[in-house]
Amino acid sequence: MAALQANPSSLKTLILGSRRSATTRQRATFRCSASPSPSRSYSITLLPGDGIGPEVISVAKDVLSLAGSLEGIDFRFQEMPVGGAALDAIGVPLPEETLEAAKKSDAVLMGAIGGYKWDANEKHLKPETGLLMLRAGLGVFANLRPATVLPQLVDSSTLKKEVAEGVDIMVVRELTGGIYFGKPRGFGSNEKGEDVGFNTEIYSTSEVDRIARVAFEVARKRRGKLCSVDKANVLEASMLWRKRVTMLASQFLDVEVSHMYVDNAAMQLIRNPKQFDTIVTNNIFGDILSDEASMLTGSIGMLPSASISESGPGLFEPIHGSAPDIAGQDKANPLATILSAAMLLQYGLGEPEAAKRIEAAVMNTLDRGFRTGDIFSAGTTLVGCKRMGEEVLRSVDSHKPVAALK
Ligand SMILES: NC(=O)c1ccc[n+]([C@@H]2O[C@H](COP(=O)([O-])OP(=O)(O)OC[C@H]3O[C@@H](n4cnc5c(N)ncnc54)[C@H](O)[C@@H]3O)[C@@H](O)[C@H]2O)c1
Repeated sequence: MAALQANPSSLKTLILGSRRSATTRQRATFRCSASPSPSRSYSITLLPGDGIGPEVISVAKDVLSLAGSLEGIDFRFQEMPVGGAALDAIGVPLPEETLEAAKKSDAVLMGAIGGYKWDANEKHLKPETGLLMLRAGLGVFANLRPATVLPQLVDSSTLKKEVAEGVDIMVVRELTGGIYFGKPRGFGSNEKGEDVGFNTEIYSTSEVDRIARVAFEVARKRRGKLCSVDKANVLEASMLWRKRVTMLASQFLDVEVSHMYVDNAAMQLIRNPKQFDTIVTNNIFGDILSDEASMLTGSIGMLPSASISESGPGLFEPIHGSAPDIAGQDKANPLATILSAAMLLQYGLGEPEAAKRIEAAVMNTLDRGFRTGDIFSAGTTLVGCKRMGEEVLRSVDSHKPVAALK
């Protein structure tokens, strides 16, 4: 959270250009903070998905609308099916109309996909396939996942308080390359006639450079420390990765760069997580390390994510899944999705004031003692998804203008 608040200007605007529409750009000249009449307008595609997805998206949409209106922003929302919901309605996990709507919008906010009902489906008819197709279709190559231990929830971490307290890490994961997409891949047989499975870890200089640039920009807006994680003692793809990151470092002299082997990084994240500020790594290492980092915080229901592309809309979603075990029971923690909406404002639209409003409202709601079941502890007030949303709305509304917070 603190990390997000320390990012006053939009990364997207900074390195990838603003997503503001033509009408928005014209009107932006007249913008004033906390204006009651909208001065900027954005289209947002909402993808509620399955399980608890619709519950948390409904709450996050209201929070986004209110925070936006207090900052003179107007949203046009379009809800589209994805995942199991799309399979049931249309027969495919990512309908063309959904991808088209997402591509045309300024940003995409997703809930979660998946559920027992579709678990036995063939691969191309699985909800998860729809999510992979969506990420590929939007070209979102950089995945940003903050792992911040909030002071109010420090006891939720499985680590000792003195180790967990103050942890504030941003993992920047390459999302569209590496071994998950590299070719050749497949099954075959070796010279002994045994079955084999094989994949290819491959990165080009341009792929490394673009993710590294994102990470340098993120790091310079945080505490100015970037740790690049690789396996350059063994893998050629990692040797190239390290060489390019080292070369790019000369363009970001305000960022202190270090390199770490992935096995050591996995260990250091548990031993002394506070040493990390921003981590950049490839697709497979990032998959594993970002899950490990998120667990330092102890609460999957609190963690947002942003996936950004070179010039199109970004995809913003909580890191949790569809939680079928609690779906439809008003038990879901909506804060991860609400914080994803804050990332959408910060990184997707270049609206840091509105993002700060949401982050401050979440902190305020936690300060007032409201907790969903996943983060509940003695002495706090247990609430459901809807009530948590209402309390965040109350905090957004009563929140002082951002200028007064600085
Ligand atoms: N990005 C995504 O949409 C995504 C990510 C992971 C898993 N999935 C899918 O979700 C389904 C369930 O997967 P899973 O059980 O492994 O992971 P999950 O994240 O859905 O749930 C893991 C545990 O965390 C709890 N939980 C998750 N989110 C919560 C929230 N907001 N508030 C309170 N508790 C929460 C759940 O109740 C469950 O006990 C599967 O079909 C899986 O493929 C989707």
